[in-house]
Formats: sequence, C-alpha cells, structure tokens
Amino acid sequence: MLHVTNLTKHFPVASKTPSWFPGSASRPHLHAVDGLDLTIQSGESVGLVGESGCGKSTLIRLISRLIEPTAGNIVFNGTDIGNVSVREFARSPHRAQLQMVFQDPSDSLNPRFTAFDTVTEPIRRLGSRQERQQLPQRAVELAHQVGLPPELLSRFPHQLSGGQKARVGIARAIALKPTLLILDEPTSALDVSVQAVILHLLAELRQQMHISYLFISHDLNVVRLLCDRILVMYLGKLVETGPVDAVFNHPRHPYTQALISAIPSFEAKPHPIPLTGEPRSPINPSPHICRLYGRCPKGDQRCQQMLPTLEPINDYHQVACHYPASPQ
Ligand SMILES: Nc1ncnc2c1ncn2[C@@H]1O[C@H](COP(=O)(O)OP(=O)(O)OP(=O)(O)O)[C@@H](O)[C@H]1O
Ligand SMILES: [Mg+2]
Repeated sequence: MLHVTNLTKHFPVASKTPSWFPGSASRPHLHAVDGLDLTIQSGESVGLVGESGCGKSTLIRLISRLIEPTAGNIVFNGTDIGNVSVREFARSPHRAQLQMVFQDPSDSLNPRFTAFDTVTEPIRRLGSRQERQQLPQRAVELAHQVGLPPELLSRFPHQLSGGQKARVGIARAIALKPTLLILDEPTSALDVSVQAVILHLLAELRQQMHISYLFISHDLNVVRLLCDRILVMYLGKLVETGPVDAVFNHPRHPYTQALISAIPSFEAKPHPIPLTGEPRSPINPSPHICRLYGRCPKGDQRCQQMLPTLEPINDYHQVACHYPASPQ
C-alpha cells in the first residue's frame, strides 16, 4: 500500500554565505532523513521508534506530503505521490486516504473551530457531494465511533479535556475512512489513564475499519501492544526492522538492544546496555562511517570505513550492522 524508496530530506544549515554566492550549493546540510526505504502492507500496523531528533517526524511529514523531499519516491496505493506538489496533494483524493493524528491535540486543533467544525472539515474539503449534504449525521456517527458524547460537538477546544480533544483529533482523521493513518506520538500529551483508553480506541478502530497505521511512539511498550512490525531509526536511517516479537525478544542491532534494555519493567532484567558518548552530528555525516560509531560497544575499523546497509538476516528481519547479535 505504501512503498517508499530512497526517501531523503536534507535541511540547509544557516551559513554566512548568501545562497546566490558561487559554491554555496556545498554549504552544510542536516541529514534528517537519509536514503530510507520502507513498505507498509494493507491493514498492517507499523511502529517507528528512535531517539529524539533521529528524523521520525520529518519522515512522516514527507510521507504525508507536508514537506518536499530532497530525493526519493513515495508510492501510495499505486500512485507516485512524491512528485505531486505539497499544494496539489492537499486537494487530491489521495489526501483523503492518508490522514494524520498529531502529538498534542491542543496544538493541532484550530481554537476557533468547534469540535463539529474540526471533525467535518476534511469532509467539507474532500468529501463527496452526498457526504457534504449529511454533515450533522456524519459528525454524530464519528463522535459515537470515537466515544465522544455528541453534545460536546458544539464546544471549542478550550472547553474540552485533553482526552476529549484527542478523540476529536482521531474523529477528524477517520472522517474520510482513510486506508493509512499516521500517528505522531498521539498519546504523549495525555495522562496515563487517558492514554490507555485512547490506545484501546485506536486498536479497536483499526480492527473495525482495517486501517494501516504508521505509529510513532517513545513508549516501546505501546508499540509492542499496538503494532505488528517495528522500524528502528537512528540519525536519519533505519537500523533494524522486523516483527514486533522478533525485535523485542531478539534485538540484533546494538542500538535496538540498548533501547529495549532501557524499557522500565518490574521483571528482573539484565543490566541496561549503555551507549556511551554523544551521538554523531547529523550535519554532513560521512557516507562511510556507521552512524552509531563512537557510541557502539562493537565499533571497530570496519565500522569506520563502511556504513552498513539494511540487510535481511532472515525472511522477515533486517539489520544494518556489520556485527549483528546472533539469535539467542
Ligand atoms: N524545518 C526544519 N529545518 C531545519 N532542521 C529541521 C527542520 N525540521 C526538523 N529538523 C531537524 O531534523 C532532525 C530530525 O527532526 P525530527 O523532528 O524529525 O526528529 P524526531 O525524531 O521527530 O524527534 P522527536 O522524537 O524529538 O520528536 C533534527 O535534527 C531537527 O533539528
Ligand atoms: Mg517528532
């Protein structure tokens, strides 16, 4: 359903040289997403994890066509949407099929829109004529679907609780019955009890509507509960992908091992695997050195000379490391 190849986003870093100056093309660039390939199958739920600043939000902003890629292709439901301009995409039928839920519902809801306006906004913009003629009925249906009391539809965001705002954001995202929902830390602004309720709602909606999810979360336990497959990202590149159980039970990349060993748990666990030192700079990173080099306990000369690429270690699990851990 979604097939991304060599997706790249480099942001120019401010320099004293004006852009018209000869040679300014070689000015430094921050490699937020660097030659990334990924596929999401119909109905699949994929979790995306990685430390702050590794490029997760940039990746999904590229896929949702909110920003222009530096390079790469994005094929969604058989159409290359990577070449469609951001403006054109906002009005295209593919936009209806690909929806987003953002991190903080307070930020992503228009303070001057009632819940009704917000929930029906995608239908008014992209819905069929018939759907547009039935806005009140659709709004009530959607409110029921996300567990929002319909009498709250007349309220503005400041008159709603965090959990209710999250439900409004989800109702907006499913209003056009999308096939792919991209969620950027959808519950991180909520308290733990509301988080659990919203995650339960998301799991239910996925079952009912057969939507695929691309789900970003810092909480690995949430990814484990909600996703079939996991993508681990480090400084603009994928370093490991595989089914959730395989990656959690037998992580092969040293970064994934460190990430998983740091999950808080009441069970007795071996000591967390430390990553020492600072991350490498994302500005003009060397195309030859492994991005984890300097922090990785396994790093040696080979890692300094050749950037490892994502390679299959079996039919369903891929790792980008010269020295992946052996299966236990
Ligand atoms: N518009 C922009 N201009 C310049 N640099 C940017 C821009 N957007 C993001 N970046 C940089 O790209 C890198 C990746 O940022 P991004 O927001 O994608 O990270 P993230 O993985 O989502 O982090 P977090 O987990 O904290 O949300 C960061 O170094 C960030 O500073
Ligand atoms: Mg982010």
